[in-house]
Amino acid sequence: MAEELNISKGNRTEMYEQLLPQIKALISGEFNQTANLANIAAALRQTFGFFWVGFYIVDSDTELVLGPFQGDIACTRITKGRGVCGTSWKNSETIIVSDVDAFPGHIACSSLSKSEIVVPILKQNKVRLILDVDSNKLNDFSEVDQRYLEQLAQIISESICD
Ligand code: SME
Repeated sequence: MAEELNISKGNRTEMYEQLLPQIKALISGEFNQTANLANIAAALRQTFGFFWVGFYIVDSDTELVLGPFQGDIACTRITKGRGVCGTSWKNSETIIVSDVDAFPGHIACSSLSKSEIVVPILKQNKVRLILDVDSNKLNDFSEVDQRYLEQLAQIISESICD
């Protein structure tokens, strides 16, 4: 497909409904994970204007390492169980943080980040990647983001080759 997104402005549900099939098409037929994750991070940021969008990759039994992202530089490694990303990995669950200052152990890569959603991406019941989306607005994420970003996690999981 052409390397452009066509998204009409609407509410977040309407925009995710348009975006997800386009992401699916964008990564179909490309097996390089770095290329696909880089384009997905760009597509999310381009569509919604989020402050930071990126992936952490499970690098060992105990550590995540920074993967493709869009936004300011970020911490390179996160230990399992630490911060929002490490907690999402440990518990294999999506976490919405409406106010990062109220999340114990939150790792602040930028003081401009105010709220965050973190979604684990599993393959064969094991977390392989973490999707992290940060906003510079408080309380910017809801169950709408959770529903669609978990659908995106499923699309990404299906694209992971073993
Ligand atoms: N805030 C995250 C760290 C990653 S940065 O926000 C990009 C956390 O607490 O895990």
